[in-house]
Amino acid sequence: MASNRTFTMIKPDAVEKGNIGGILNMITEGGFRIVSLKLTQLTVADAQQFYAVHSERPFFGELVEFMTRGPIVAAILEKDNAVEDFRTLIGATNPADAAEGTIRKKYATSIGENAVHGSDSDENAAIEGAFHFAGREMF
Ligand code: CMP
Repeated sequence: MASNRTFTMIKPDAVEKGNIGGILNMITEGGFRIVSLKLTQLTVADAQQFYAVHSERPFFGELVEFMTRGPIVAAILEKDNAVEDFRTLIGATNPADAAEGTIRKKYATSIGENAVHGSDSDENAAIEGAFHFAGREMF
């Protein structure tokens, strides 16, 4: 059965451009309830651990550098069918392929600097949420 929670980050590019409010508005207008929310910054070790699945990819170094260059917003979101519906709301990884009305279509600039992260499975949503939030920070 699909979980009703997913995990997201508003990435450094979107925070730098002042798009936190616009993105959170699209998320809540999209029917997601905010369970957990914080402004934080990843260390290099944090980013290497979070993206360990991509460690052999050619873009790994660039990805870690980008994700650690400034603050991010981390959040856990709740909605029926959260993982799949959130990936629909954010759009394709590459904004050039993202559908109209999606967060990446509106706010992302490239495949690397793509404004938001969304978990790709229920299992990863739980792992990624627990990476950033303690139980007492989930509401
Ligand atoms: P996301 O899907 O949130 O998590 C993995 C990230 O790796 C992805 O977003 C992009 O930011 C990044 N990424 C994926 N493919 C590439 C690529 N070809 N070049 C640079 N970064 C990439």
